[in-house]
Amino acid sequence: MMTGLHVRDLVTEFHSRSGVTRALHNISFDVGANEVVGVVGESGSGKSTVVRSVIKLLMPPGRVMEGTAEFDGQDLIRLSERQIRQIRGKEIGFVAQNPFSALNPVVRIEKQFANIAKAHGLKVDTESRARALDLLASSGVNDPERVMRGYAHELSGGMAQRVVIAMALYLNPRLVIADEPTTALDLTVQRQVLDTLTRLTKDCGRSMLIVTHDLGVVANYCDRVLVMYRGRIVEQGPVSEVFVRPQDPYTVSLLNSVVQPKAAGTAHPTELSESRSI
Ligand SMILES: Nc1ncnc2c1ncn2[C@@H]1O[C@H](COP(=O)(O)OP(=O)(O)O)[C@@H](O)[C@H]1O
Ligand SMILES: [Mg+2]
Repeated sequence: MMTGLHVRDLVTEFHSRSGVTRALHNISFDVGANEVVGVVGESGSGKSTVVRSVIKLLMPPGRVMEGTAEFDGQDLIRLSERQIRQIRGKEIGFVAQNPFSALNPVVRIEKQFANIAKAHGLKVDTESRARALDLLASSGVNDPERVMRGYAHELSGGMAQRVVIAMALYLNPRLVIADEPTTALDLTVQRQVLDTLTRLTKDCGRSMLIVTHDLGVVANYCDRVLVMYRGRIVEQGPVSEVFVRPQDPYTVSLLNSVVQPKAAGTAHPTELSESRSI
């Protein structure tokens, strides 16, 4: 049994009265154990559709037509709604773009942690509560006790997303999937929240698939990168190769678009981020 996530020939379409849109064309990629894989590409290229197809959170009229997404020996695509629910939250943690859509506005944060445990048949006791408090603290939530007693609307966007991250990691998932987890947040806290998410994921030897439009984030945090364009992966590989010697013209233009050219002709992808560490 291979560990990690192995997606093969995924084809996803949106069917409506006005016709069929093929949003994904034979997508194949792997997320190995302990690996952080970034997904980049312009808006509408299919990044969210990949993520949502894999974890069965695709909204109608979206439909996976072909392909497999093998995770620890089973094909997620073919699981029933009930089976995927057992995996989501427990084996695979998900962090969406908008934290407030992931939090229940009328249920105290503490109760929401408890509900996650209960949904997976785990007992709720002082130990599980302590674990939630620990995770909130390591996610950068000040005064976790107070946050646990409160409601989502009392939190800033950055704090709410930190709570969602703690919830996503609560049951120790082996894989964390994040879809532009900080785009809804203030610029000043975006990097901090991403730092937290990747640090907590990597420190525990989990793997991660992270969608982002921020190539600096990929340069800093990801081992490998998938470049999407119009529903296809046009290039994928180690960040150190793809960003330094891009092979596809779209990757080249994507990298050039974020480089600050000092003078005509001197722009180079290695100037991508002052703090990159590849
Ligand atoms: N609800 C929908 N109905 C029809 N087509 C959709 C819908 N959602 C997404 N699509 C199609 O899928 C493509 C990819 O969308 P998405 O995965 O959200 O892109 P990204 O996350 O890269 O911005 C869109 O360009 C569009 O053609
Ligand atoms: Mg998206």
